[in-house]
Amino acid sequence: MANNVLIAPSILAADFSKIGQEVTDVLSAGADWVHLDVMDGHFVPNISFGPVIIEKLRPLTDAFFDTHLMIAPCDPYLEAFAKAGSDLITIHAEASPHMHRSLQAIRALGKKVGVAINPGTPVSTLEHVVDLVDMILVMTVNPGFGGQKYILESANKVAQAAALIGDRDIRIQVDGGITAQTAPLVANAGADVLVAGSAIYDGKGKDSYAKNISAIKAAL
Ligand code: DX5
Ligand code: ZN
Repeated sequence: MANNVLIAPSILAADFSKIGQEVTDVLSAGADWVHLDVMDGHFVPNISFGPVIIEKLRPLTDAFFDTHLMIAPCDPYLEAFAKAGSDLITIHAEASPHMHRSLQAIRALGKKVGVAINPGTPVSTLEHVVDLVDMILVMTVNPGFGGQKYILESANKVAQAAALIGDRDIRIQVDGGITAQTAPLVANAGADVLVAGSAIYDGKGKDSYAKNISAIKAAL
């Protein structure tokens, strides 16, 4: 049984016509963090939302806002996402040649620091920045869309990230295709923050979200 695993629902799968309600509902349904999937239509082939959504959601809850920037370039927008109310900002290692500087910039903004790697990017890419971050995000799908299938070999990659981290106080997050079926695979390999969109936001409201979150936790 993996301990202290956090569930971070991705609002990408929520009903945006009532996004405020969807966030407060999923938190009362037992979510630990709110995962905010920002997409620019350039780094990934989809466009989601900008800092203004985070700014509008911020006053609704004190919950931990985990902002996943699937954008390139990322540097020009870090301050806006920090000011909007992110608690943690994750950038992609692939978003620019200056990952090291970008991670330092997030820290300088007073936010927790995350770095994400796509399925095709080796964990070794992070060996010179591991001491700059609070979290490593191992993408378990190619980023851009919710509802995709978990990439099978991801658990090995999570284990590689755990080996790189060693006894440092750094979390491992996974994102994409995480369900009650795939959650144990990644949690047993060392993931302790599970992002789930479609496995939680099924459009049936708070009680269903609570059932979905419990199913994932029960599977661990
Ligand atoms: C990038 C997004 C998605 C989303 C998760 O693709 O980050 O991975 O949050 O969506 P599900 O849980 O539906 O795969
Ligand atoms: Zn994400």
